[in-house]
Amino acid sequence: MSRHQNGEEYRNPTEVKKSQIVMPCHANHRQELSVGELLKWMDSTACLSAERHAGCPCVTASVDDIHFEHTIGVGQVINIKAKVNRAFNTSMEVGIVVSCEDLFSDSHWRVCQAVATFVSQRTTGGKVQLRPLVPCTQAEQVEHSLAAERRRMRLVHSDIMKDLLTNKAFQQVEVQEAEKAVPAERTRVESVELVLPTHANHQVNTFGGQIMAWMENVATIAASRLCNAHPTLQSIDMFHFRGPSHVGDRLVLKAIVNNAFKNSMEVGVCAEAYQGEEPLRHINSAFMTFEVRDREGKPCMLPRIRPEPLEGRRRYQEAIARNKIRLDRKYIISCKQTEVPLSVPWDLSNQVYLSYNNVSALKMLAARNNWLLNSEKNKVSLYTLEEKQVLSFKVETEVDIPAERAFMLLSDLSKRVEWDPNYERCELILRVDDDDFLYRVVTPSIGQDGASNSPSANQGGKVQDFILLASRRPPCDSGDPYVIALRSVTLPTHPPTEGYNRGEVLCAGFSILEVSKNISKISYFNQASPEVLPYISTDIAGLSSSFYGIFCACNTFLQENRGDHASTPQSQPPSSTLKSTQL
Ligand code: COA
Ligand code: ADP
Repeated sequence: MSRHQNGEEYRNPTEVKKSQIVMPCHANHRQELSVGELLKWMDSTACLSAERHAGCPCVTASVDDIHFEHTIGVGQVINIKAKVNRAFNTSMEVGIVVSCEDLFSDSHWRVCQAVATFVSQRTTGGKVQLRPLVPCTQAEQVEHSLAAERRRMRLVHSDIMKDLLTNKAFQQVEVQEAEKAVPAERTRVESVELVLPTHANHQVNTFGGQIMAWMENVATIAASRLCNAHPTLQSIDMFHFRGPSHVGDRLVLKAIVNNAFKNSMEVGVCAEAYQGEEPLRHINSAFMTFEVRDREGKPCMLPRIRPEPLEGRRRYQEAIARNKIRLDRKYIISCKQTEVPLSVPWDLSNQVYLSYNNVSALKMLAARNNWLLNSEKNKVSLYTLEEKQVLSFKVETEVDIPAERAFMLLSDLSKRVEWDPNYERCELILRVDDDDFLYRVVTPSIGQDGASNSPSANQGGKVQDFILLASRRPPCDSGDPYVIALRSVTLPTHPPTEGYNRGEVLCAGFSILEVSKNISKISYFNQASPEVLPYISTDIAGLSSSFYGIFCACNTFLQENRGDHASTPQSQPPSSTLKSTQL
C-alpha cells in the first residue's frame, strides 16, 4: 500500500473488498469451500468494483484463466479484493485477488488471482462509453499497461483456439485404447436451472458468477463419475459469456469428461438458455481441469477414458491440444521473466503467449521506478537498474520525428544494420502476423547492445547469431507508448550452426512516446543476464562511449528516413516447415 504525500494510505477508488467466513453451507462433502460459491463471491465483488468506476450496471463479459492454488476449509475466512485495472471503451478489466485467513494461527495465503472483463450497460439498454482510469501508483501503472496486452490476447483467444484445434497435428492423435478405459458416456451430466430474481441483478441479468457456479457443479459431477472419488478443481480456462441471460430463463447445463490424462482430466461444460418455446441460446462453454488427491494431497492416477464416436473423439483430441496449450500458457505467462529460460521454443501454438510475454516483460521493465541516472551527454541519458543479479539499462532521448514514423522504422529490425554496428546481418525468417516477426541476427563481435554482448562472442574466432522474436504494438490509447519488444526464442528450423555461437537476449526493445506531433521520446531497454554482466558494467562505468555513439547513429538514421513511406517487414509467406511445426 503506498502513501499520499500527506501520509494517508492511498486506496484505489475502484477497490472493493469482501470478507466471508466459510460456513458448512458453503462447503462440499470434504468440508472445503465449494469453488462455485467462491466464483459467485469473486464475480459479485468484481462487478461492484466495475460499477464503481462505470457508475452504471455492468455484466461479466469474460474471465481469464484461473488456477486454484489451495483449497479452503470450513471456519477459515476468505478475503477478496477487486479493482479496475483499466477502462477501455465500454469494457473494463478488473483484477481479483483471493486470499485465505486462518483466524487461529493468524496466517494468510493466496488462493487465486483472476482477471475478469465487465461491460457497462445503460439501464435503458445499450453500452456506455467509460471515462479513462488514471493509474496513480507504480503497481497500478504496470497493471494498466499490461491490461492492454491481456485484452489483445483475450480478444484473439477464441480464433486462436479454433485455428490450433483444426491443426492437422492434433487431428492425427490416435485414441489410446486401454482395457479398463471408462466410457465417456458414463460421465455425461445434464441439469436444468430456473433463473430466479435472487440469481440476477436489479437489471434482471443473471449474474455471471451464478452461471459459473452452476457450470462448476455439473463439471464436478462429471469428474466424480470418472474417478468415483471427490475431485479437486485445479483450473478453469479463459471463457466468454456470449450472450445475456435473464430472470425466467431456463438454463440447461451439460458436462462430460472430454479426456483423462495421467493425473488430471478435462471436463467440458456447455450452458444454454431458453424461455418458453424459444430456441436454445448458447451462453457459455468452459473447460475445467480436475485432479484427485490422496490423503497426503498427492495427485492420484486416473483411469483412461473411452470417448464416444464422432463428437466424442473430436473433443478427446481437442482436449489433448488444449492441455498442451494450457501448460505452455501457464508456463510462459505465469513465470516471472527471470525464471523463464532465455530461449523458449517457439511454435504456432505458443506464439500468442510468447508475444504477450515479450511485450509484458518490456512494459514491466519500463515501468520500474528505481532507474538510476548513470550518465548524460547532449540530452542522451543512460540509466541503470540492478536487481537480483540482473543488470538492465535504458538509453533515452527526444528525437525530432513523429512517434509513429519512428515506430515503423525501428520495428523493421532488418533496417538496424544501417545504424547499429552490432548488427552485421539481419534476416527476416517469418512474418507471423502484423505484430510479430522472427529474425536471425548476426553480430560481429562483443558490443554494447545486449544482442551482441555475450562473453562467448568471438570465442575461437566465431561470430554470434540470435533468433529473436520481435513483437510490436501501437498504442492502445493516447498516452500509451509504441512498443517494440525483443526476446530470444529457439526454432527447430534454425538450430545453432557451426561457425556461430548462439547468443541469447532476455528482454530488450524500444518504447516510443509521442511528446508532440513531431517529437518523440525514444527509450531503448536491455536486460542483461548474469553471464554478460561484467561486459556491460565496464561499458556503463563510462570506459566506452559506444552507447552514446550507437544512439546518435540511430538518431541520424531516423532523421534521414523521416519522410520515407513506412513499410512493414516482408518475408516469404510462412514456410511450410514452420507452419507444420509440431504442436
Ligand atoms: N472478452 C472480453 N471482452 C470482450 C470479449 C471477450 N471475449 N468480446 C468482446 N469484448 C468487449 C469488447 O472488447 C468491447 O469492449 P470495448 O468497448 O471496451 O472495446 C465490448 O466487449 C463490446 O464489444 P462488442 O464488439 O460490441 O461485442 P459484443 O456485441 O459481442 O458484446 C458482450 C460483448 C460481452 C457485451 C456480449 O457478448 C454479452 O452481452 N455477453 C453477455 C454478458 C452477460 O450478460 N454476462 C452475464 C452472465 S450471462
Ligand atoms: P465443443 O463441442 O467444441 O467442445 P461446445 O460449446 O459444444 O464445444 O461444448 C463445450 C463442452 O461442453 C464440450 O467439450 C463437452 O465437454 C460439453 N458438452 C457439450 N455438449 C454436451 C452434451 N450434450 N452433453 C454433455 N456434455 C456436453
